[in-house]
Amino acid sequence: MHVDLVTRKVGSWKSLDRLLRRIESGDELRPDWIELKADVDPGRLDKKAWADWLVRLHAGVKRGIKTPHAKIKGRKKHLAFWQQTARSGFHDFVDDCWMKPYDAPWITDFDYIRSYQEGGLEGLDAYGTYSAVLGTWEYGVEDFVHTEFAGDVETVVEPLAGTAEFSYQGHFRHPQMTYVMFDLDPDAKKLVEGRRWLEGTERAFLLGNALGEDVWIDVRKASKGKSLAYIGKQSQNFFDAKDLFRILQWGTKYADHLVLEVSEPYVVEDEPTIDDLTRREMKAVGLNVALEDLDHVTPNPLTHHMSFDLVAWDDADRRTLFEYHDWIGWQPAALSALGKLLDLDMRYFHSGEAEWLPLEEGIDTSDVRENNSFIMFSRP
Ligand SMILES: C[S@@+](CC[C@H](N)C(=O)[O-])C[C@H]1O[C@@H](n2cnc3c(N)ncnc32)[C@H](O)[C@@H]1O
Repeated sequence: MHVDLVTRKVGSWKSLDRLLRRIESGDELRPDWIELKADVDPGRLDKKAWADWLVRLHAGVKRGIKTPHAKIKGRKKHLAFWQQTARSGFHDFVDDCWMKPYDAPWITDFDYIRSYQEGGLEGLDAYGTYSAVLGTWEYGVEDFVHTEFAGDVETVVEPLAGTAEFSYQGHFRHPQMTYVMFDLDPDAKKLVEGRRWLEGTERAFLLGNALGEDVWIDVRKASKGKSLAYIGKQSQNFFDAKDLFRILQWGTKYADHLVLEVSEPYVVEDEPTIDDLTRREMKAVGLNVALEDLDHVTPNPLTHHMSFDLVAWDDADRRTLFEYHDWIGWQPAALSALGKLLDLDMRYFHSGEAEWLPLEEGIDTSDVRENNSFIMFSRP
C-alpha cells in the first residue's frame, strides 16, 4: 500500500503566496510537499525575503519543499543560504528537497556547521555530521507499517538506536504508536531523551547490550501489541556470525518482526579505501568528512571483515567521529541463510509495491537492485 502523498506545484512567487494564504486560512489542507518550479528560485531572493517565506513554508507543509532547480553559485553564498534554511527547520540530507520532521509544529535547527565554526574540529557536532552524510534515509516507520503484512504493528523497537532517527521521525507520523529504543551508550540515551518529542507518545529508551537476553525481555515488557524491530544502516555488521544468530533469535522472539537494512552485494576489495562524503556546506568552511579504512586492516574479500572510521579533517587537524572496527560486511545471501537455519519467515520490502513480499517466491530484482533493501525476519 502506497502512502498517498500530496504535492502542490507552484510556478511563481504569486501563486505560492496564494497557496499559502489558502492554507493559512484553513481553506486548503497542508500538502506533504510544495514544489517550487520554474522561476521560483529561492537562491535569487535576498535573505529577508527567504526568511519570511521559510516561516510560512514551515507552517504550510507536512514534509517539505522540493526545489530541484535551486542552484546557488559561489561557496559563501551557498553556505549562507544553506545555513539560513537549515536553521529554519529544513534539511537537505536527502536529494533534491528540503525536509522537516513530518508535520513538526516546531522548528528544528539542522545547522551542524555552526558547531564547527564556533569550536573547530573538537567542537564539531558528531551526531549532526553523521546525520548529514550517513544517517538520513528515504524509508521509515510509515512505509513499513503502511503495508498489509505489517499494518497491525503497534510498537516500534529500535535496537542499537544511537540517535534513534527511525523512532524519532516515525513518532511524528504515528504518535499513537509505542517506541522502545535501546543502546549501550548512555550518551545516546541522553541525546535522544533530550530531543523534543510530541507530548503523549509512549516511549522508553533502555540501556542495554543487544547481545544480552535481559534487555530484550525488558523490550517485550515495554512493548504493546505487535512489534517491529528495526536495525538500520547495516548496523548488524557490528556482529559476528554467532552474535548475529542470537540477535535474529531474540529479535524475533521478543519482537514480532525484525527488519535489517541490507546492502546489495558488493566486492569488498572494490570499495574505496577512502570514501569521500564531504558535502558542499562543509567544503565552504574547509571541513572534509570521509569513511576511511584503518591503515593496517585490509578488507578481507572472503570473510568481509573490515575496519574503518568516519573521520573529519581540516587544514590544521583531524578527528575520528565514529569507529567501525571489526565490521563484517554481511550480504543478503548470508543473512537469509542464517534466517533459514532458524526456520524464520523472510520477506523483503518491495518499494514499488510498498509491501513486504516473501523472499523466496521469485523476487523482483529491479526493485532490489535500485533501492536500499530491507529484509524482515519473523517466526512462522
Ligand atoms: C551506527 S550507530 C546507529 C545508527 C542508527 N541506528 C542509524 O540507523 O542511523 C550504532 C549504535 O549502535 C550502538 N551499539 C553497538 N553495539 C551495540 C550492542 N551490542 N548493543 C546495543 N547497542 C550497540 C552504538 O552505541 C551506537 O550508538
